[in-house]
Amino acid sequence: MPLSARSQHSTLTQFLIEERRKYPGASGDFNALILDIALACKAIARGVAFGELGQVLGDHKTGDGASVNVQGEAQKTLDVLSNQAFIRRTEWAGNLAGMASEEMEHPYQIPTQYPRGKYLLVFDPLDGSSNIDVNVSVGSIFSVLRGPEDGRDVQEADFLQAGTRQVAAGYAIYGPTTMLMLTLGNGVQGFTLDPNLGEFMLTHRNIQIPPDTHEFAINASNSRFWEAPVKRYVDECLAGKTGTRRKDFNMRWIASMVAEAHRILMRGGVFMYPRDTKDPSKAGRLRLLYEANPVGMIMEQAGGRASTGEKPVLDVAPTSLHQRIGLVFGSRNEVERIERYHSEPAQAEEHNPLFAERSLFRF
Ligand code: AHG
Ligand code: MN
Ligand code: MN
Repeated sequence: MPLSARSQHSTLTQFLIEERRKYPGASGDFNALILDIALACKAIARGVAFGELGQVLGDHKTGDGASVNVQGEAQKTLDVLSNQAFIRRTEWAGNLAGMASEEMEHPYQIPTQYPRGKYLLVFDPLDGSSNIDVNVSVGSIFSVLRGPEDGRDVQEADFLQAGTRQVAAGYAIYGPTTMLMLTLGNGVQGFTLDPNLGEFMLTHRNIQIPPDTHEFAINASNSRFWEAPVKRYVDECLAGKTGTRRKDFNMRWIASMVAEAHRILMRGGVFMYPRDTKDPSKAGRLRLLYEANPVGMIMEQAGGRASTGEKPVLDVAPTSLHQRIGLVFGSRNEVERIERYHSEPAQAEEHNPLFAERSLFRF
């Protein structure tokens, strides 16, 4: 690439410094944290890119056999390495009060040899990791919250903050190119990793999601477990031109939420991993604090919408660190339509005992 084309773009560092100038009192801790997160993502991107050559594929093994995380899911080697990359790149700098991750049951305490700071970092170190062995895009998701400022150990309760309180959120996607998508609460910016310079360059400013779409993403193998409003929405999409929607839809399912979120951010669409009846002990598949909230903030900041189906996901008051939730996000008009289907009286009838199986009004 000619030198002139490359120098059109600001670096992530330049972008952050220019943002900070708007807040003359800012200490720089926040920028330093974002740059450390970006470095962790670059390290993970390298690991992912080496694949089999780096001996990083496959399941993570411990002395006792295959390792399983707190979710009961088998850990991939890259899940564990990515978790370590986040910790090692961010714990030393004095910006964090503590961390929490998909791969750690309890909050991570900043070791005593390091100073403690005022932010909390919550992350999914590798999202879509079931795809890693088949060379499909994966990513890392992160959320920055304010934490206790007195240097004490962090507790689960410190992390149980609604998504509206996120100071920043973003994800990195390790696809054909590595990108970092970031919001500081003032729109969404996209940075592309220049592999020669090792720098994230600002390539996508103030991303806006189209409000309408003809693409939806859902794991259709769960359809028998869906609730009525979701069934109705998907049936209408499938009916296409001949149905009430009067247009044809396309379906996509990558099974890597970061990759779906990225497609939707770039060209619109709607993603659904709704609450369903598959496993009554789980309120959904995706995790609120390190999947739904950061992706939700990105969507809302790009003019899209993120919902539980019933209400904005960012308004949910969390009750536990690894809590799961139903999630719908993407093009605003589609997400609002799904919310409307959840609230319409027809649905209320479904749950009304008078209309239940073998009830008064059923024959
Ligand atoms: P993770 O790899 O962090 O556990 O997350 C996987 C998530 C998400 O990326 C994806 O949308 C979903 O799980 C895939 O679910 P299915 O296995 O039902 O396709
Ligand atoms: Mn995930
Ligand atoms: Mn993960």
